[in-house]
Formats: sequence, C-alpha cells, structure tokens
Amino acid sequence: MRDAKYDILFEPLAIGPHVAKNRFYQVPHCNGGGYRDPSAAAAMRGIKSEGGWGVIFTEQTEMHHTSEITPFIELRLWEDKDIPGLRRMSDAMKVHGALAGIQLAYSGINGPNFYTKEVPLAPSALPIRTFTNDPVQARALDLTDIRNLRRWFVNAAKRSKMAGFDLICLYGAHGFGIFQHFLSRATNQRTDEYGGSLENRSRFAREVVADIRDAVGDTTAITMRVSLDETIGELGFSNAEVREFVEMNADLPDLWDLAHGAWEDCSGPSRFKEEGAQELLVKGIRELSSKPVVGVGRFTSPDVMARMIRQGVLDFIGCARPSIADPFLPRKIEEGRIEDIRECIGCNICITGDMTMSISRCTQNPTFMEEWRKGWHPERMNAKGESQTVLVVGAGPAGLEATRALSLRGYDVTLAEATTTLGGRVARERLLPGLSAWGRVVDYRQYQISQRTNVETYFDSRLTAEDVLGFGFEHVAIATGSHWRRDGVARQHVVPMPIDPAMTVWTPDDVMAKVHPENLTGKTVVVYDDDHYYMGGVMAEVMAKAGANVILVTPSAYVSDWTRNTLEQGAIHVRLDDLGVDIRLNRGVTAIRAGEVETNCTYTGRKTAIGCDAVVMVASRLAEDALYNELLTRQADWADAGIKTVKIIGDASAPAPIAWATYAGHRYARELDTPDIGDALPFRREVTQLEPA
Ligand SMILES: Cc1cc2nc3c(=O)[nH]c(=O)nc-3n(C[C@H](O)[C@H](O)[C@H](O)COP(=O)(O)O)c2cc1C
Ligand code: SF4
Repeated sequence: MRDAKYDILFEPLAIGPHVAKNRFYQVPHCNGGGYRDPSAAAAMRGIKSEGGWGVIFTEQTEMHHTSEITPFIELRLWEDKDIPGLRRMSDAMKVHGALAGIQLAYSGINGPNFYTKEVPLAPSALPIRTFTNDPVQARALDLTDIRNLRRWFVNAAKRSKMAGFDLICLYGAHGFGIFQHFLSRATNQRTDEYGGSLENRSRFAREVVADIRDAVGDTTAITMRVSLDETIGELGFSNAEVREFVEMNADLPDLWDLAHGAWEDCSGPSRFKEEGAQELLVKGIRELSSKPVVGVGRFTSPDVMARMIRQGVLDFIGCARPSIADPFLPRKIEEGRIEDIRECIGCNICITGDMTMSISRCTQNPTFMEEWRKGWHPERMNAKGESQTVLVVGAGPAGLEATRALSLRGYDVTLAEATTTLGGRVARERLLPGLSAWGRVVDYRQYQISQRTNVETYFDSRLTAEDVLGFGFEHVAIATGSHWRRDGVARQHVVPMPIDPAMTVWTPDDVMAKVHPENLTGKTVVVYDDDHYYMGGVMAEVMAKAGANVILVTPSAYVSDWTRNTLEQGAIHVRLDDLGVDIRLNRGVTAIRAGEVETNCTYTGRKTAIGCDAVVMVASRLAEDALYNELLTRQADWADAGIKTVKIIGDASAPAPIAWATYAGHRYARELDTPDIGDALPFRREVTQLEPA
C-alpha cells in the first residue's frame, strides 16, 4: 500500500474536457524509432500505460509536410494514411486508463525539409537553426501562408482526434516549435500584426488555439508547450516574458506545459543538472493562470514530486527520462514499493537513439524499445528454462543485470566478483566528478539481488578456468569487463604509438585508482583523448581540480565529441574552459617522449611539441577475456564438468558504454535455455508497405 504522503500524487485532475487519473504525466519524448518503427513505439507507450501514468504523450509529430526534420526520425501526420499507425499508439496508451496525447510540431526555422524538398517557412527569413548548420534558409511566412498554416493545424487536430488522441500539445519549446519562433524576438522580426509587441507575437498562438478549439475542442484538450527561458540573451523569450505571456493569455490552453530552454537545458544530464533544476524558473507561473501546469526536472524522488504539488509549484509531474528508466514508476509509488524504483541516472543515452536516428536504449532499462521488437517487459521475465544453475563471473553492469534478471526467471545464480565491491567500472566511475548518479546502476541491482534468495555473491573471487570447471555450474556467463589501454591504440593509432618509458603515463584506470599525486600544482599534464566520449573531458577535470596545468589534445573538432549525442558537449567545453584547461582541437599525438609529447595537426600533419610532466592516455579499452579464452581451450572438458554453455558478455566481449553492458546482461538472461533461432533475425521489425508500382 502507498504511503499517505503520496496521496496527493494520485488525485485526479481535469485537463479541458478530460480527467487525468493521477498527476504522473509523461511529457513528449522521442525514441529513435518514430515513423520507421510504429509498433515498437506504440508498445513502449503501452507499457507506460500499464505502469500507471495518468497522461502519456507521443514524441513530436510533424504535422505538415512543409516542415520536417529529416534525418531525425519522429512521427508524421501528413495525411489520412498516417492515422492507423497513430491509432495503434493511442490505443496502447489508453489500455490502462491513461489519457493519450499527441504533440504537433511545425518546425519552422528548425526544419530543413531535406526529405520533402519544400522551402521552409518561418516567422522571419533566417538561416535554419539545426544542430548541423544546414545551408538552408527559411522564407518568411506571408499572411496567406499564415492562414494556410492555421488551416494545416486544424487539419492535423482533426486527424489527431480521428487517431484517438485526447490531448493535443502545441510545440513551442526547445527552439524547435513554431509557436516559440513567433514568440521570440530572436526568430520573429516581423513588423506586421504578428511581430513587435508580445501581444502581437502571441497572436499566432491565440489564433491556432481558437481554431483548434472550434474544430475539436469539445472532445480534445489543448496544451501548449513553451520553454521557461530561451537562454539566448536579451532577444530571447526570457523567463520574465514567459510569465507575461502566460498572464496575458492565462486561459488560452487547457494546460501549460513548461519545458526549459534549448533541449540541452531541458534534458540536462546529471553531470550538470540536479533533480528539479527548473524549480526557480517555474515557481509562481501556476498563479498566473487558472489552468493546470506541468513541469519537468528528471524527477525520480516521490518526495520531491509530492512537494512540487503540495507547494503549488506544479499540478502535474512531467517526466520523460524517469518514465523511460522506469515505466512502472507511478505503480511502484502506488504499491508502496519505493525501493523498487529504477531511477534514471541522467546519462542521456536515451537521447543518442534519436540523435543517431537508430533506436533508443536506456542504461537503466534494457527493455526500452524492445517491448515489441523482442517482447521484453520491464518488470516480468520469460519463464525459466530446463536448467537450474548459472555462474556469473564479474559484478559490473553486465554481470549485475544478468544476475538480477536470471534470478527473476528462477535460476539459482552464483555471482563471483574479483574485488570487494559490486559494480565493476560503475563502482569506480561513480566517484568521478559529476558521475555520482550513475551509481544508481549498481544500487538498484544490488538491492534487487539482495531481495532474492536464489542469488549467492562471492567477493575476492578471481576465478581460473580450473576453478570454473571444478564448480560444475550448468551455464557460465563471463562478464569480466575491460581496462583502458596504455599504448595509445584507438582511432589515430591502430598499432601502439612510440612511448618513452621515461614519461609518466596514466590511464583512466590509474586515475580512478588515484595513483597520481593528490596535488599536481605546478605540473603540466597532457590529456590525450582519442576515445571521444565523456572520459577524456572527465580526466581533464580531475587533473585540473588536482591543480595541474592541463592541456587537452584531441584529433576531433570538439572536446568529448560523441557527447554531442548526449547533449552535454557544450557544457563539458564550458566546464573545462572555466577550469582553465587549454583545449587543443584537431590535433593528435604522434609520440610521447621524456618531458614532451609530439602532436600533429589532423589536417596538415604539421608537428608541434608540448612540454609536460605526465600524460593521461584516454585511448580505447581492452576486453578482459583471458578467463573466457582459457575456458574455450578447455571446451573438451565442459561436459564432464557439467557445463552446457559458456558465454562472454558486456565489456569483456566488446567494450562500449554502460548501456550496452546492461543490455548484454539482460539479453543473456532472457535467452538462456531458449531455442536456437539459427540465422533468423533476433527481433521483429516493420517493413514499409509498398504502394502500387
Ligand atoms: C529521448 C528524449 C526525447 C525527447 N523528445 C522530445 C520531443 O519530441 N518533444 C518535446 O517536447 N520534448 C522532448 N524531450 C524533452 C522532454 O519532454 C523533457 O522536457 C525533458 O527531457 C526534461 O524532462 P525529464 O527530466 O523528465 O527527462 C525529449 C527528451 C528525451 C530524453
Ligand atoms: S538512458 Fe540514461 S538518462 Fe535516459 S532514461 Fe535511461 S538512465 Fe535516464
């Protein structure tokens, strides 16, 4: 039973003509699948319905072909043909009583229209503002265009209704939706009745809401999503102007949906943003309107959520990432199972699925986007197979997830860990600056495993093949992790680079083990980053905080290049700059000698030496696969030892981000004792239906 202090989270509340059964509101979020994987996306939303959310939204849905954001894969509602796919989604959302919402996006100054080849339309004629600085400009909407656009919104609203949605969200946040483009003086430089004063800049929003209300308002609630602060300086739609706008148009939508600035502000990673970071910006807005307000802030703590409602900051708790990491979050609170909540770690790996146009993963929830493709449920495992015992070697993210999921299936699991702590790389990385929330990967699994009677954990157990053969477990999962290379092999160097042993070279493992002096004042340290995810930037931060003069050298054009996909690259650059790190981009390292590193320009090859006292080598990682390989050489002995299978999973198989490891552990647990599918595809996929030739 739930704790009475959380009752407030379960009070129903009206949104226009509908009543949400509770205050848990899944704000729009994409998933990398969108129009390409409609059934996978629908099933994912259906799981959230089962998990107890009161309101569930789609991701942004391109509502007219004159504005689209190819190559990104979202949803489309361009013609009646798109309705059945969306109907599948709204049906899934409503199965357990949630209200189904669709977010309508007209991307204006953010839509380059690569697919439709239409000229982009925006309030003012300016270059398209995408992540990739596309060489395309928008034409300013004339008054006829604006009339057309209003009609297109009405058409999309009618189709949304036909597709079964209860709520329509008009997208005006993150710099992505046209409502913001009209509201902001940066993107609206018009001199007619749609530009200039705030009243004029809000005209388009007022007109579209009125049009949609006339068309479908009796059955469909209208919400408006705006950013709390555009965060681009004086010209931007500031927090003060947002408040003025809400006050001026107090009862315009049926609900105000308050996001933050750009997407990277709104979905800030835990490295840079705390839970509830938007509180100051959102506080007080609720008093300006009689309509309910939803806000976000990577909310995973029921206490913080309840306080937000109790103190009148918000009416609905908006969640994107917390609902991905744990689609059953509301139900767990309702059932008084707070300890079972799988808290989002704020790593933004889910966002990389959208940024890479693939399909999203979640570090904490390996079943995300596999609900339909693989039939994986976040809370339930498939039935146990014929075997009984499994040895998991290594308690990093892959080993822990395999153990948790296998034990849920009913296997007797023995977890052998070489050190005295659980967590593997996460146990070490959680101690690095900004990464403490990542420890939730371990904490969640450690607690879950502690609740199972069919798991035995052994520490200080560095096993040999002889040990494993002697135990006689039916199945063995090798999850022994990886370590950072010292020889520089990564992308610039595919074979070891010349390194003089007279130079001190630390790997990230050394730094995490604190082999370096605590105080590096007066020393110069070169951090060479040819990994390009977060570790290079974090190493530079550690060194700078220890007092060193840090020079970060990377062959990439960006610090921590791949973190552009997790929306934190800008924040990392700023942090390093603030710490005084000397950032040298487009430079590799060709040799490490006593007292200096030799660097080269990525383009010209011209070389320059940098004098330094030590180097932190952030190259690639080597799988710890010795035990696995040793067992393979003893394959002839397996049957006598009672061993049926030995598999290698996670970083021990091929090093990758933590999400890959939890996925590998989960997959291992799901597939144990299941029939061999041979050469068949291991997941379901949808193929576009052919039109007549
Ligand atoms: C994977 C992902 C995709 C998102 N896609 C959208 C989107 O399509 N439309 C939108 O308005 N916001 C989108 N957002 C922003 C979220 O709605 C939300 O405002 C933000 O993530 C902060 O909420 P959270 O801290 O609960 O994640 C997305 C966020 C994530 C994590
Ligand atoms: S991928 Fe990371 S940020 Fe995204 S929901 Fe999962 S844990 Fe949270």
